[in-house]
Amino acid sequence: MQFIDLLSQKERIRTSLLRRLEDIVDRGQFIMGPEVSELESRLAGYVGSRHCVSCSSGTDALLMPLLAKGIGPGDAVLTTPFTFFASAEVISLTGATPVFVDVLPDTFNMDPDLIGHAVDEAVQRGLKPKAIIPVDLFGLPAEYDRISAIAAAYKLWVLEDAAQSFGGSFQGRKAGSFGLVGATSFFPAKPLGCYGDGGAIFTDDDELDGLLRSVRVHGSGSDKYNNERIGINGRLDSFQAAVLLEKLTIFDDELERRQRVADRYTEKLHKRVVVPRTPEGYRSVWAQYSVLAASAEERDQLIGLLQQAKVPTMIYYKIPLHLQKAYAFLGYKAGDFPVSEDLSNRIFSLPMHPYLKDEEIDAICAVLLA
Ligand SMILES: Cc1ncc(COP(=O)(O)O)c(C=O)c1O
Repeated sequence: MQFIDLLSQKERIRTSLLRRLEDIVDRGQFIMGPEVSELESRLAGYVGSRHCVSCSSGTDALLMPLLAKGIGPGDAVLTTPFTFFASAEVISLTGATPVFVDVLPDTFNMDPDLIGHAVDEAVQRGLKPKAIIPVDLFGLPAEYDRISAIAAAYKLWVLEDAAQSFGGSFQGRKAGSFGLVGATSFFPAKPLGCYGDGGAIFTDDDELDGLLRSVRVHGSGSDKYNNERIGINGRLDSFQAAVLLEKLTIFDDELERRQRVADRYTEKLHKRVVVPRTPEGYRSVWAQYSVLAASAEERDQLIGLLQQAKVPTMIYYKIPLHLQKAYAFLGYKAGDFPVSEDLSNRIFSLPMHPYLKDEEIDAICAVLLA
């Protein structure tokens, strides 16, 4: 059994994908070929945003808006400590300081009620709060209606970390479209993944779109060798764009299959472990199906039983960011973000992909229910 099965998916798109890749080899336009602009307009249409700027990874998709907006030393950017390292790492890469906001115990996403406290903390530390990066963890969009209102009151602009939630939605609005700017990842294991690294940025802001395109190519101006600002090499290559164009043709079907897998897990497991909650009006893409054991000891025991039955599991995330060695210099301590710390002790993720068979789900659940 696979934690994520990319092979069944490959069989569905193999012939048309190989034709596209062969075309690129024949034409030789490996960087920023026509596939890249075709992909950008398809993705912008899918998300419902005016602009899409494709880029080299989800990490760069987060970093580029921070660079474009001039975030730097002395600035504070808020994010959660219960996420993948990159959500905060990009803040540090600009020279700014991450200030953490704890998450909600049932959706694992940023707790809007704690934003004000984090802003005060930033100010007390002599920092200028500038922006906020809510994370759509495991595929579920964060509470943007409340977060955006609170962020506006504090004059923070919102960068949505939609690395795990491309395809998800809230009241019909798609993930990636919630902030001033949204960033997603096409890492192969993501719900929409390419065959290497890739990412994309979404915005309705025309000026920001221009800045992002400049930052993507070393801060270039009208001419490639005329550099107007500091940027990066953040381009997506034509092969990855071709893979994504093919995968988009089956993506909505795959999301429905993911939902069916999640529903079956929830129905069978809700009395045994704490299952994930999807609030009214939200749609998750189930990048992960993560459950909570009653304690750290019970988690070890359940993972052990699953291992014996050859069922792969993962722990996202074992160490919250404020307790990571890399962030020791920020001076946080255990107890500062109790919800994230508790989740880190009890959470684990079950196999999740669109091609998981009912018999496989039932066999996984039987191990947990035994
Ligand atoms: C929440 C979150 N943010 C950012 C990233 C970074 O994306 P990438 O691995 O494409 O750089 C990831 C990737 O796992 C992620 O899960």
